[in-house]
Amino acid sequence: MGLNVIMLGPPGAGKGTQAERLAAQRGLPKISTGDMLRDAVKRGLPLALKAREEMDRGELVDDQTMINIIRERLSRADTDAGFVLDGFPRTVFQGRELDAIMEDRGKGPLVVIDIAVPEEELVRRLAARRICSSCGMNAEPTDEAAGVCRRCGGTLVHRADDNECVVRERLRVYAEQTKPVVDYYRGRPTFRTVNGAQPPDRVAEELEATIADAARAGASFSLGAQR
Ligand code: AP5
Ligand code: MG
Repeated sequence: MGLNVIMLGPPGAGKGTQAERLAAQRGLPKISTGDMLRDAVKRGLPLALKAREEMDRGELVDDQTMINIIRERLSRADTDAGFVLDGFPRTVFQGRELDAIMEDRGKGPLVVIDIAVPEEELVRRLAARRICSSCGMNAEPTDEAAGVCRRCGGTLVHRADDNECVVRERLRVYAEQTKPVVDYYRGRPTFRTVNGAQPPDRVAEELEATIADAARAGASFSLGAQR
């Protein structure tokens, strides 16, 4: 059965950082809606015109656009053995649609990870973050020291929505529209919270053990449900 992981958590929690590591380790595709939108903006795709305004203000892009993107992405064969989803679902409506897609396609249960980090740490991380202007990867201290991206040699820049005013709005939008998604999943046997306020390697270790445990719970839950 495939391993289908969702990374939840506020802006700056480390969803992208951990999704990248987990996907590489498990040989699964990392599906990040934020990265997909930023890529569409860079390439000047039609859907990006309106999306860009919303992203720059820290608001959510409309549900239907996001659901269409995810429905198409999850129809590709590389997701048959599972996926790591970062940044979706962000509204309860998106969560319900994702459940419907998973059921239609006969995919296994979702392992839902909520990465918890205190707000002052989120603000600190986002103010400090720089990304590659070319491939979009988060810079690590070694890239900062070298002055360029380790993957492609691109220049490092601040993300357009990482200024203080937009970060405050993203946190407000998270509390209002995305926190209810955590509650939507909380009662499932495959829901887990991970402490994201530790060094990235420690978070990755906790995540790996937590996912193994949740996947076992998901497998026995599915078998139980079939009986
Ligand atoms: P998105 O790109 O998903 O942004 P976000 O949710 O605000 O989250 P971030 O990417 O800022 O944080 P992250 O949790 O990935 O943290 P990261 O690993 O980078 O979405 C952007 C916009 O797109 C949205 O505002 C919306 O407009 C739109 N959008 C996207 N999906 C949508 C959807 N489904 N519906 C509607 N609209 C949608 O880490 C942050 C920083 O901290 C980095 O510098 C990193 O190096 C550092 N760091 C990571 N882990 C640690 C650690 N353990 N200790 C110390 N530092 C760490
Ligand atoms: Mg991210």
